[in-house]
Amino acid sequence: MKSFDFLVLGSGVAGLSFALKVAPRGRVAIVTKKSRAESNTNYAQGGVASVMGRDDSLELHVQDTLAAGAGLCKKGVVSVIVGEGPARIRELIELGMKFSETENSAERGLAKLDLGREGGHSRRRILHAKDLTGREIENALLNAVSREPNISILENHFAIDLITSRKFGIQNGNRCLGAYVFDRESGRVETFTAPVTLLATGGCGKVYLYTTNPDIATGDGVAMAYRAGAGIANMEFIQFHPTCLYHPKAKSFLVSEAVRGEGGVLRNLEGGEFMDGQHPMKSLAPRDIVARAIDGEMKKSGADCVLLDITHKPQKFIIERFPNIYKTCLSYGIDMTREPIPVVPAAHYQCGGVLTDVDGQTDIGGLYAVGEVACTGLHGANRLASNSLLEALVCAHRAAEKILAQPPQKVDANIPDWQSGSATDPDELVVVSHNWDEIRRLMWDYVGIVRTNKRLERAAKRIANLQEEIREYYWNFIVTGDLLELRNIATVAELIVRCALSRPESRGLNYNLDFPNSDPAWSQRDTVLRN
Ligand code: FAD
Ligand code: SIN
Repeated sequence: MKSFDFLVLGSGVAGLSFALKVAPRGRVAIVTKKSRAESNTNYAQGGVASVMGRDDSLELHVQDTLAAGAGLCKKGVVSVIVGEGPARIRELIELGMKFSETENSAERGLAKLDLGREGGHSRRRILHAKDLTGREIENALLNAVSREPNISILENHFAIDLITSRKFGIQNGNRCLGAYVFDRESGRVETFTAPVTLLATGGCGKVYLYTTNPDIATGDGVAMAYRAGAGIANMEFIQFHPTCLYHPKAKSFLVSEAVRGEGGVLRNLEGGEFMDGQHPMKSLAPRDIVARAIDGEMKKSGADCVLLDITHKPQKFIIERFPNIYKTCLSYGIDMTREPIPVVPAAHYQCGGVLTDVDGQTDIGGLYAVGEVACTGLHGANRLASNSLLEALVCAHRAAEKILAQPPQKVDANIPDWQSGSATDPDELVVVSHNWDEIRRLMWDYVGIVRTNKRLERAAKRIANLQEEIREYYWNFIVTGDLLELRNIATVAELIVRCALSRPESRGLNYNLDFPNSDPAWSQRDTVLRN
């Protein structure tokens, strides 16, 4: 048994920011399932949205967030997160983060920040480090963490399940007491206890066949919280990013919306600007609208992709502003300064998640959730671009402040060891990878950008069968990372489908042909599931 004051699951922007804030007050364990930098954060391109420009205001950022969220955002939460953004950005800069600067900036107090633009934003307000913003943020936070003697990072440690008082009948009410964690190197499952556990495990892009997300994004936090009895909300709102590179050899490479922010235009294979007439912001409309328009265009023409064209901009500008995208496209033989980039939509962001307040508090005592794993109400039915790094920074700070103001007591409990099966059978292991493929394919085919109830019901039946198989397999066999992730993607797939089936309307990212319009009775109504 390993005891800490704070147990943090995940080492992206949410987990690292929180750990830094609580470290002066106790021992912190950051448990992370691969190497410390491997996270969605590390791949973020566009940047962090925050009000910094002279022509901008908090009200405008709030309005843009609410408009993108299609009537489902919690306005109070939006105001708090947008309002506290500039202070968190200043802290990040003090910590060592270097955002891109420009001589022509519309700076406000902060020196010469270059402000980018993305879909749904009425002003330039995206702070970025060229097109590698996430890598720079992750580095700045990891450097700061390495200077903190109170923080231990445990790599290759996979959180399997939360330990709750409800499960073991230890006390009245449901409290989180820690987590069971699989050490991939030793093969052992260890018991971690702490009065405060933070879920910062990120999103679930890998539930879908095509995604912009790295392999870690298997929805583990949502699945663990659901099994533990926490409320899970709005999982039907999976955001598909309109522009993932389309190339047979490219795996999950995003072409940032900032390319459209700097003038890039979407075209069909004939060169037509098909976003004309779809939305006043054309190629820079909110993501749900652009992704759906691309999907429609591809279905209408039978084409495998559409094109993103920024060739009218000077070559020097493109290479300096988008060095990573330029280099990566070139490695696949596409020179974006001379030819349009073939792109397709792909699963990108989980707008729903573990239900929390704006301080990250879940409905289980001692359990907090921050970042993509959480559903605070900021994003509503469709997240505004670059609002997620912002949300993680603000909510990590607020969760830390709340906890430090009223530290929870340690619970003395006799926690049983993890019980694991002992069977191994290499022939059976192939079943795990088949089931993985089957779930991801069926989610792509039946629970994608455009849905119908018939397809959702078909998906629900198949997922239930797969879950039955996984349950048998899971309890008989020795734990492996692949098996744990399979169990989690199946749970998350089930939650997405159940949420989608229980919303009889189209709103934001949940577009259902059986209910093509929004129903005012469902505005401001979350879909909440509990185990
Ligand atoms: P993550 O950064 O994903 O971190 C999750 C951590 O949890 C990882 O360390 C992971 O290994 C760990 N973990 C997961 N499961 C377990 C487990 N069972 N046990 C232990 N550890 C576990 N948002 C923006 O605001 N602006 C952008 O420009 C932007 N660009 C993006 C580009 C790409 C390609 C992608 C994929 C996303 C982008 N996003 C962007 C979204 C944003 O990056 C994420 O929402 C955000 O980084 C999530 O941060 P997080 O800390 O919540 O999770
Ligand atoms: C992008 O750079 O297009 C991603 C921005 C985001 O997901 O917020």
